[in-house]
Amino acid sequence: MQFLISIIYLFTLTIASKTILLTNDDSWALTNIRATYRDLVDAGYDVLLVAPVSQRSGWAGKFDVPESKNLLNDGEFSYVKKGDPSWGHEDDDKNIWYFNGTPSSCVAFAIDYVLPNYFNNKSIDLTIGGPNEGPNLSPGFFTASGTMSAVYTSIYRGIPAISFSGSTLNNSFFQDSLNNNSKDAANIYSKKVVELTDIIFNNTDTLPNMLGLNVNFPLIGDSSSDDCYDPTWQLTRIMGKGVFTPNMQYNETTELMDWTYQYIDDIQKDCENGDCNLPSEYTVFWADNCTSTISVFSIDYDANLSQSNKAKKLMKKALT
Ligand SMILES: *[C@@H]1O[C@H](CO)[C@@H](O)[C@H](O)[C@H]1NC(C)=O
Ligand SMILES: *[C@@H]1O[C@H](CO)[C@@H](O)[C@H](O)[C@H]1NC(C)=O
Ligand SMILES: *[C@@H]1O[C@H](CO)[C@@H](O)[C@H](O)[C@H]1NC(C)=O
Ligand SMILES: *[C@@H]1O[C@H](CO)[C@@H](O)[C@H](O)[C@H]1NC(C)=O
Ligand SMILES: *[C@@H]1O[C@H](CO)[C@@H](O)[C@H](O)[C@H]1NC(C)=O
Ligand SMILES: *[C@@H]1O[C@H](CO)[C@@H](O)[C@H](O)[C@H]1NC(C)=O
Ligand SMILES: *[C@@H]1O[C@H](CO)[C@@H](O)[C@H](O)[C@H]1NC(C)=O
Repeated sequence: MQFLISIIYLFTLTIASKTILLTNDDSWALTNIRATYRDLVDAGYDVLLVAPVSQRSGWAGKFDVPESKNLLNDGEFSYVKKGDPSWGHEDDDKNIWYFNGTPSSCVAFAIDYVLPNYFNNKSIDLTIGGPNEGPNLSPGFFTASGTMSAVYTSIYRGIPAISFSGSTLNNSFFQDSLNNNSKDAANIYSKKVVELTDIIFNNTDTLPNMLGLNVNFPLIGDSSSDDCYDPTWQLTRIMGKGVFTPNMQYNETTELMDWTYQYIDDIQKDCENGDCNLPSEYTVFWADNCTSTISVFSIDYDANLSQSNKAKKLMKKALT
């Protein structure tokens, strides 16, 4: 009995000692990220939240730093105001930070400034991006999304990372909307983040080097077709048959270009890497059947050997 208790205690300690860097692109004042912070802390994780002071959706991998010591504009929901410092933390919680930069910059700010200066160089076991307001599916979003960029920036720095995105939108201020209602999308998504994080940390191995996960949660509750409150998980591919990408259209009324997303049925159907039998994440998202997609991606951007050999053959003259 004593032995068993010790084992359970040790196990709890292992979970409790895991450190998570939590970030997003919708800003540190969003309900989604605050609900996730609360639930990861409740689950025993040591969480450092560092996120942009204002909305940085669609900023992709751009890296920037504040141009002045103080903010030139109000932050998101005017939670932090013009004239306040360009970075800082909650008065009552030094684990919750904002930074006037893109999501990629926030990750670097956390690793290169916050951890050495405030946390004695503590190391991060996992970076979590999100849950984003809106899905991040297909190659078009992979490259354009700020949340995705935070995740791949972390992976470049040797820290495994997972991006979470929610299909049900409620771009709300945590001080107005954070609640304990178990049917709210923010709370369902945060519970699911904790569930997958627990499952991963229950294994002795962490995610392999250079790999990340892209998770998309389905529509929740009233906004879903079947009152979805506890989505299941399914492995998917980012590429594959059925993806969507940004495109544009000339608008005769405004005489300007409109941008939109175009569904591509099978242009990207060729499969060069990964498990070619998996459905695309977009296909599963579109099925609206209370399923969360998990795509495993690599930041080893070099082409598959058989593909790169084809390119090499074409350039033979240049390479001899
Ligand atoms: C943190 O690590 C860096 C680089 O390894 C080192 O230069 C710095 O002195 C360390 N800081 C603390 C507080 O240990
Ligand atoms: C969405 O946010 C508003 C406040 O902006 C809040 O009143 C409402 O309860 C939220 N709805 C859901 C479904 O979370
Ligand atoms: C949610 O529940 C916790 C304790 O379970 C409580 O401290 C907190 O005030 C509650 N939050 C809201 C918004 O009701
Ligand atoms: C993690 O492992 C413990 C002990 O085996 C188990 O009680 C718990 O349910 C597991 N959690 C998950 C999310 O798999
Ligand atoms: C062109 O732009 C106007 C104004 O934004 C918009 O109302 C209209 O729907 C657009 N037309 C098309 C064909 O998308
Ligand atoms: C590269 O792609 C080919 C198909 O073009 C496939 O047969 C091969 O297994 C792939 N190699 C790797 C390393 O994934
Ligand atoms: C949801 O739809 C996808 C795509 O059609 C399918 O692969 C998957 O099995 C479905 N999942 C459930 C739980 O019905």
